[in-house]
Amino acid sequence: MAKYQFIIDKIREIFHQPEGQIYLHKPLFIGNEKKYLEECIDSTFVSSVGKFVDLFEEKIAEYTGARKAVVCVSGTNALHIALKLVGVEQQDEVITQPLTFIATANAISYCGAIPVFVDVDKDTMGLSPQSLEAFLTKETEMKADGCYNKSTGKRIKACVPMHTFGHPCRIDEIADICNKYKIELVEDAAESIGSYYKGQHTGTFGKIGILSFNGNKIITAGGGGGVVVQ
Ligand SMILES: Cc1ncc(COP(=O)(O)O)c(C=O)c1O
Repeated sequence: MAKYQFIIDKIREIFHQPEGQIYLHKPLFIGNEKKYLEECIDSTFVSSVGKFVDLFEEKIAEYTGARKAVVCVSGTNALHIALKLVGVEQQDEVITQPLTFIATANAISYCGAIPVFVDVDKDTMGLSPQSLEAFLTKETEMKADGCYNKSTGKRIKACVPMHTFGHPCRIDEIADICNKYKIELVEDAAESIGSYYKGQHTGTFGKIGILSFNGNKIITAGGGGGVVVQ
């Protein structure tokens, strides 16, 4: 612990909080939230449709530069939908990283697929392109319909890298490797709205990416998620 005390001290200094717990994410309501909530209740559109839902989707697409954004009940749900959309089937394998929130692996399991863990880079805390390439070179073979794990005989259909705590991983390199091995890229940008990699918003490097608007996220809708497509 003492080894990392200087990091804790710096965080305390930034947050002007010399003692007590510093929360990972603490929602801050400093705008028109109450006004809009009242408008929402008055309109009776308090669920999955209504002008605020349409506006939110438009704004998300505009802000991230995605072709289209579709919101849903949670980030986990968005991941599940995204994996289904790229064609993940029962007994497929899906590569992801071990350093992530459990939802990433859960969504893979919801498809009846199997998560395969490839290590992260120390500096980005996201999936390592070197480890990914090494794994695919050594452990897989290409067949007519895609990439197969030689030891399990299962198809590797997709890869879900994650941008840990908003720090982008080397997503361009990961996208190139996925293309080379005919593996679908599903970018888990649940924690990274507002994060760009080489000028491009996270979640928009593959065909499909996902966002979360849970209470612990950068923008919250109480709960919620979104799929962004290119
Ligand atoms: C990396 C990651 N993926 C997926 C999720 C799932 O999002 P949700 O909590 O909205 O289901 C989260 C956060 O909770 C997350 O941190």
